Amino acid sequence: MLGNFTYSNPTKLYFGDNALNGLNDELPKYGKNVLLVYGGGSIKKNGIYDKVVDILKANGKNIFEDGGVMPNPTVDKLNEGIARARAAKADLILAVGGGSVCDYAKAVSVSVNCNEDAWEKYFIKFDDVTCDVVPVGCVLTMVGTGSEMNGGAVITNHAQKLKIGHVFGDNVFPKFSVLNPEFTFTLPKYQMISGIYDIMSHILEQYFSGTDDNTSDYIMEGLLRSLIHSANIAVKNPTDYEARSNIMWIATWALNTLVAKGKTTDWMVHMFGQAVGAHTDATHGMTLSAVSMPYYRYIMPYGLDKFARYAVNVWDVSPEGKTKEQVAAEGLSAMESWMKSIGLVMNITELGATKDMLEGIVKSTLVMEGGYKVLTVDEIRAVLKASY
Ligand code: NZQ
Ligand code: ZN
Repeated sequence: MLGNFTYSNPTKLYFGDNALNGLNDELPKYGKNVLLVYGGGSIKKNGIYDKVVDILKANGKNIFEDGGVMPNPTVDKLNEGIARARAAKADLILAVGGGSVCDYAKAVSVSVNCNEDAWEKYFIKFDDVTCDVVPVGCVLTMVGTGSEMNGGAVITNHAQKLKIGHVFGDNVFPKFSVLNPEFTFTLPKYQMISGIYDIMSHILEQYFSGTDDNTSDYIMEGLLRSLIHSANIAVKNPTDYEARSNIMWIATWALNTLVAKGKTTDWMVHMFGQAVGAHTDATHGMTLSAVSMPYYRYIMPYGLDKFARYAVNVWDVSPEGKTKEQVAAEGLSAMESWMKSIGLVMNITELGATKDMLEGIVKSTLVMEGGYKVLTVDEIRAVLKASY
């Protein structure tokens, strides 16, 4: 049965090969001071930076820059960004980049007008936002996280070996996001497939939970089929606009909060992945692919019906003459073969996790309670051991 919920998603999307023109509609709504946030320089190489700056200038904006946002943005960088946004008296934070840049912009936006320590307040205590939020807009250049249309912001604290996400309310969602699939064409293949698996994982985290008959599960099966189909094309031909645009749109649907409404969700793969990320600083999507098979094989018996349904509806496994266990296991094998075929990392050793990190990663893994089995510390250790 669908649980009770409220649903609102205020992010306005501009999608397509001319989506950047949407900035001309949006910029006049905000004051003059724009903090332009970006990553390590890819947007300068591929020309997106110049295009954005031209539009900002044409709209009479004062541009203040905050570049150098790293993948998996750190708490030190966050504190630097808060200071920059204050100095600029930013009326709008414009994030141009991937999930890291967009997440970071949101984390800055809720902290500018707040005196407390941002890490403690939002990522340790999970406090609500009690101060004025600076509006954020996002020009997306890397697909996967869904950050363009949600309230998520994930920050890494290397000193504390923690990587933690706060899911803010809809007052923190980007006010608008620009989604031009062509902006993703310059992504290295490693990043593209990492993003593809991040999308798949977001869907599966929400799919593998609950035993009710829920419309979201049917939507998610469709999203997964489309993702697998488009990924197979994009891996062979990264500039196939149709495939890349579908992947971009699926990413947004996968984590714009819609499919989670009225149902329970798991998120344990992300807890493992974030713990691995806190110790290795590895690429987000690859931390998820590296732990997924051991985790799903472990919990399969506890959610057998759903795993069998997944095998049939997503991987076209024929159930005829087979036990439910056989069908479910075949589905996971099909998933594993596909993951290998597109080039995903399948173990955490390849991501830099060494044996002496095991206990630390176990400690950094937060336990979620919405999946088919609430894991004990011993079970967490067993899944991680199987992921090396
Ligand atoms: O920094 P630059 O030079 O721009 O290079 C980036 C970065 O090295 C590069 N890149 C991005 N667009 C490019 C490009 N290179 C060439 N051409 C382009 N068009 O790609 C690298 C990775 O970028 P990043 O933003 O780090 O990737 P992603 O979008 O995967 O974001 C990862 C972060 O998002 C968090 C992750 O934990 C991680 O910190 N997540 C956020 C979520 C949310 N808001 O809901 C949910 C996710 O589960 C995830 O946890
Ligand atoms: Zn993710």
